[in-house]
Amino acid sequence: MCGIVGAIARRNVAKILLEGLSRLEYRGYDSSGVAINNLDGVSSHRAVGKVQALRDKFAVEPLDGKIGIAHTRWATHGKPTEANAHPHFSGDDLALVHNGIIENHEPLRRELKAKGYEFKSETDTEVIVHLIHDALKTEPDLLKAVQNTLTKLHGAFAIGVVKNDENDRFIAARKGSPLVVGVGIEENFVASDQLALLHVTDQFIFLEEGDVVELTRDQVTIFDDNGEVQERPISVFNHNVDATDKGEFRHYMMKEIYEQPKVISACLDGRISETKVLTSCFGAESGFLKDIENVHIVACGTSYHAGMVAKYWIEDLAGLPCSVEVASEYRYRKVAVPKNTLFLTLSQSGETADTLAALRMAKELGYLTTLAICNVPSSTLVRESALTLLTNAGPEIGVASTKAFTTQLTALLITSVAIAVENGLSAEKEQELVQAMRSLPAYVSDALSQDAHIKVVADRFANKHNALFLGRGTMFPIALEGSLKLKEISYIHAEAYPAGELKHGPLALVDEDMPIIALVPHNDMLDKLKSNLQEVAARGGELYVFADKDTDLNNEENITFTEVPKVDSILEPIVHTIPLQLLSYHVAVVKGTDVDQPRNLAKSVTVE
Ligand code: G6P
Repeated sequence: MCGIVGAIARRNVAKILLEGLSRLEYRGYDSSGVAINNLDGVSSHRAVGKVQALRDKFAVEPLDGKIGIAHTRWATHGKPTEANAHPHFSGDDLALVHNGIIENHEPLRRELKAKGYEFKSETDTEVIVHLIHDALKTEPDLLKAVQNTLTKLHGAFAIGVVKNDENDRFIAARKGSPLVVGVGIEENFVASDQLALLHVTDQFIFLEEGDVVELTRDQVTIFDDNGEVQERPISVFNHNVDATDKGEFRHYMMKEIYEQPKVISACLDGRISETKVLTSCFGAESGFLKDIENVHIVACGTSYHAGMVAKYWIEDLAGLPCSVEVASEYRYRKVAVPKNTLFLTLSQSGETADTLAALRMAKELGYLTTLAICNVPSSTLVRESALTLLTNAGPEIGVASTKAFTTQLTALLITSVAIAVENGLSAEKEQELVQAMRSLPAYVSDALSQDAHIKVVADRFANKHNALFLGRGTMFPIALEGSLKLKEISYIHAEAYPAGELKHGPLALVDEDMPIIALVPHNDMLDKLKSNLQEVAARGGELYVFADKDTDLNNEENITFTEVPKVDSILEPIVHTIPLQLLSYHVAVVKGTDVDQPRNLAKSVTVE
């Protein structure tokens, strides 16, 4: 959803900004641009396509200066063209980059046009830079002009602003979109994500909603939305920087798929003993667990699918009602909140606009408490939730979520068991579940060993245009996740159905051109699922079955069988996810799509 970087230093900032943009490409990659302030004024390059296109421009015509701002775009208002790429200018001396959406841009645009401002782009962003230009006519101080302008904006933003006669500072601000300050030695930075600045610093200040920041080479001054100076703590980044390298892998996605045994261990670490779930993982206030009578889970995309699995676990293990809803729906309806309901958000990034809005709304609705299961400790979601359980997956760069999903499931399993224990789950059953969890990393490794076989299977999808995924019980959300992965990165249209629904419509689609991917768990639904497969086979459908060998499906004719390790049924959704990730990865590679940065998508969706 667009990424921004800004820098002020005693050295040329061009390289710092370009490297920052490359690291932010996961947020949007349809066009990019840089504006650099030097003693001759503000110069800029913009280019359509990935950051490499911008680098190519710098190779032909380098820009040199010690203050700059940069942007990688995910188009919202206006097509990905050079004219719509940021930075946007007012005159040739004031430049701005923006992440977010200005909802009242139309009336503001009309006002500015009436004052004689000419617009060069179709973006909502361009109104901000003209408004600042206009404010400077009565308030010559750039900082104050920016502060005055922000009061007129409705919507979400993180911005960076440079002006040609300001050689010792630039201004940035955030409200609704993420922005972090990177603190260096005689140089300071801002970016949408700390990953963008790890090549220059490991010290960060997380800005609060409404903060405006003035950055000089030696100082960072933060003003809250009342204009009062605020001290915000500096945090030191403690992830391994190598986590952002591809290592031996061709794509981040594959690297992240293979990291799953390790990160699932990290997610379990310190949260379970030999026999129990350690409720201290929810912080000092774990007393809330015994008061929960209902659970509302709210999330988007892949995280929503993780929530759907948790509904089965919570209702089954704890016997408590649990509802799951996509955040963009939840936030715009009147919600009935039963007494003592836990509000649980799921988000790999912790910055998804709809999920954050849902949390803010929920905080007004009288929930028991709010719990975020999230992968980014410094994210807005974590900071605004009463309780947090971190997934500890490390940075995930591939746009299609893999390790973030399986660690969300792991954290949800811990949470479900913890709630169940307070609702009568026996110590014996708790121990059995904890033992199963302890073996999870090993089973995930086993599942990965099917990689070479799945690669061969994937070849058969290269010419397909559609695919149907089937599952029952917890395998239904995993079928949804498998189909989402396939469409995200291979652009094959895929749908998922609860297998029992097949005969109520989708069976009409089945013919020899339609691959059917069936997730077959080894539980009491096995025979029912086998009947569903017969219905498909009878109509000539091409069956791809993921199951363990004891299901006996490996010997069936007309079935392409992929073995999944036989595990305790509670682990099945996590273990069955692995082969589906591998399948979509290999199909995408065969089709030659952009695996890590699929078209039109972004990793962190900070706009509605
Ligand atoms: C985007 C990403 C998805 C992700 C969804 C929700 O669409 O591409 O992978 O599932 O946002 O993101 P969150 O960070 O809230 O989990």
